[in-house]
Amino acid sequence: MSNTNHLLEALEPVVAENLDRHLGMAQEWHPHDYIPWSEGRDFALLGGEDWSPEQSRLSETAKAAMITNLLTEDNLPSYHREIATRFGRDGAWGTWVGRWTAEENRHGIAMRDYLVVTRGVDPVELERARMD
Ligand SMILES: [Fe+2]
Repeated sequence: MSNTNHLLEALEPVVAENLDRHLGMAQEWHPHDYIPWSEGRDFALLGGEDWSPEQSRLSETAKAAMITNLLTEDNLPSYHREIATRFGRDGAWGTWVGRWTAEENRHGIAMRDYLVVTRGVDPVELERARMD
């Protein structure tokens, strides 16, 4: 058994205890609650207007920060693969990996919905960057 596996095994009870503590006190939240949907409107494909820079109320710094943060969240499948491969999908570690992945996905949902609805950044550029 590798040193890493020994370490993960040794930490399993600590993970189990803290996972239980977290799940016992975590308050459910929903990304849609944080999106100002009334500000949204159709894009050109559905008869509306496509994005243009003057529509954004974000500073260049805020745009760069939001795009970087969202692309980091969008890379979640890769993180999940790496973590699940190393930590496994059984026991407390496995439960934690699944829970962490689902929670992180919420962050991406909230940020993407917010940016698209408020036209904060170019959604085409954002999607191309995500695909890359
Ligand atoms: Fe996150």
